[in-house]
Amino acid sequence: MAVRGFLVASFVLSCLVETCYGVTFSSLQSTLVVTASPTPGQVFKAGQDQITVTWSYNQTYPSGADSTYKTIKIKLCYAPISQVDRSWRKTVDSLNKDKTCQFNIISKPYNSTSGNNSFTWTIGKDIPTATYFVRAYAYTAVGIEAAYGQSTSAQKTTNLFEVMGISGRHFSLDVASICFSAFSILALFGFFYVEKRKVQ
Ligand SMILES: *[C@@H]1O[C@H](CO)[C@@H](O)[C@H](O)[C@H]1NC(C)=O
Ligand SMILES: *[C@@H]1O[C@H](CO)[C@@H](O)[C@H](O)[C@H]1NC(C)=O
Ligand SMILES: *[C@@H]1O[C@H](CO)[C@@H](O)[C@H](O)[C@H]1NC(C)=O
Repeated sequence: MAVRGFLVASFVLSCLVETCYGVTFSSLQSTLVVTASPTPGQVFKAGQDQITVTWSYNQTYPSGADSTYKTIKIKLCYAPISQVDRSWRKTVDSLNKDKTCQFNIISKPYNSTSGNNSFTWTIGKDIPTATYFVRAYAYTAVGIEAAYGQSTSAQKTTNLFEVMGISGRHFSLDVASICFSAFSILALFGFFYVEKRKVQ
């Protein structure tokens, strides 16, 4: 009876703590080792340049402690410097409300035996100009965060890199290429017109 009461209580509690209010970042252990290819301060172009992310289970944690991990999601996250005065990028301990990591790089089944996993990502065209790092979350079978790892220090000050967003950068180029295409079509018609007149 006492055991059942305890089970019910812990079920309700875990509902409150995990499903209903969401997991807090501070409750997670950093059991994943995550590295990203950028060198500190390196600048990348959105929609064009690539970064490679590598992740693995940190073997100093007990082996088998990752048996509840079912999925791994790698995300691109705003560094503190790019969150200043931007509430829509704010870090909140409750992961349901956290806005630090808004961009998915990849989601994969977790493989505890594969050692180093890596993925090369072409930075999405929608990534805005900012300073970033990479974070991985491991999820349980029911989609609750179980652990994390990140390519920067706990204070998020090391190994940060920059992305130059596409807006402003490609606009003039796009306009130029549209004008150029229009011009080519006109020139083509003009060419046929002249040729036709020559024949007549
Ligand atoms: C693995 O975890 C230990 C304990 O938290 C930590 O000291 C160590 O730096 C981690 N290893 C790597 C490669 O991050
Ligand atoms: C996990 O990785 C190992 C080693 O790379 C591979 O042999 C195995 O097929 C993988 N398992 C899954 C489920 O992908
Ligand atoms: C993973 O990669 C790191 C660095 O490249 C290496 O030191 C480590 O031994 C590798 N681990 C496995 C399990 O392959």
